[in-house]
Amino acid sequence: MAEHAHLIIVDSQSTHYPNRNTVTDILTDNFGRRHTYLRISLTERCNLRCTYCMPAEGVELSPREAILTFEEIERLATLFVEAGVRKIRLTGGEPLVRRDVEKLAERLAAIGPLESLAITTNGILLDRKGAALRDAGVDSLNISLDTFRPDRFFRITRRRGLERVLASIESALELGFDPVKVNCVVMRGINDDELTDFVAYTESMPVQVRFIEYMPFSGNGWNDAQFVSYSEMMIAIEDRYGPLTALQNGANDTTRSFKVAGWAGSIGFITSMSDHFCGTCNRLRLTADGNLKVCLFGAGEISLRDSMRTGATNSELKVLIDAAVKRKAAHHAGMYELADADDRPMILIGG
Ligand code: 5AD
Ligand code: SF4
Repeated sequence: MAEHAHLIIVDSQSTHYPNRNTVTDILTDNFGRRHTYLRISLTERCNLRCTYCMPAEGVELSPREAILTFEEIERLATLFVEAGVRKIRLTGGEPLVRRDVEKLAERLAAIGPLESLAITTNGILLDRKGAALRDAGVDSLNISLDTFRPDRFFRITRRRGLERVLASIESALELGFDPVKVNCVVMRGINDDELTDFVAYTESMPVQVRFIEYMPFSGNGWNDAQFVSYSEMMIAIEDRYGPLTALQNGANDTTRSFKVAGWAGSIGFITSMSDHFCGTCNRLRLTADGNLKVCLFGAGEISLRDSMRTGATNSELKVLIDAAVKRKAAHHAGMYELADADDRPMILIGG
């Protein structure tokens, strides 16, 4: 875990911010990171109960009126896009359980210079909503899948639904979402023996399977014996398939990508624990109850909802956003400090 000063890589080709000291610069932090990617959680509710995301006893949900309305989300999204955001991802909880999500998607997709509107979903409701979301302007999907075995699916998510998720991945490809990514949280003794099955899945499926290091969050029962690092996963996979071909990564990618030469899909690793990518982080998060979170692992949040509801103007909101972004730390704490930290559970953060 890197506790030392971290190398900051600044994308020198981006020209969104001609002058660092103007108010248009609210999304650039003190380390030169430009936050062009906003993740918006639409709900705290979910139709699954994944062990790594939710405490066993469940979470106390915010009252309905605490959750941002579509109008409030649209207002904030517009403001962020004006300030330089170019990609929005809708998350949750499970974003597709929010009623009329496709209508919100349509409104967000229409915001001027936005370049990409993506959704992270567990796939359970995608058969019903997929076509409408595509028509609304959603371009890419991340679908969670941690196992190919029904009994394990039930153990991990505490619900049934493997067949529906598998069907959703196929229909996402047929509907033309691009890319379609499959998120797999790897946990020792739970699903780590399926790594090679996930790689095999990319032989004919043009998806990117992303193996995610298991992260500690409040109440998810994380322990280091269950943690499998990227390098360990890589050894297991190359042991079976031989050396993988490394693919080019984008400037702000959180994924190291590879493929088995000649196969339809690819695989990637999200190494947030063993080798964090904070130096190139370009993300901000808006929780369903309207808090801005500048770091997935930081407890510091400000309520944009409360400011909006007490009459803040857009310029006043921008001042608040600017101040929060400028407080963003260079990198998050180490895995063991995080395991002790008192943050929200993942279900209330929204990936
Ligand atoms: N560790 C890693 N990833 C997690 N996610 C949720 N909780 C964790 C965790 N503890 C990610 C999963 C899931 C998405 C919604 O959030 O990738 O697919
Ligand atoms: Fe729901 Fe996703 Fe959390 Fe699982 S990981 S409980 S599907 S929000």
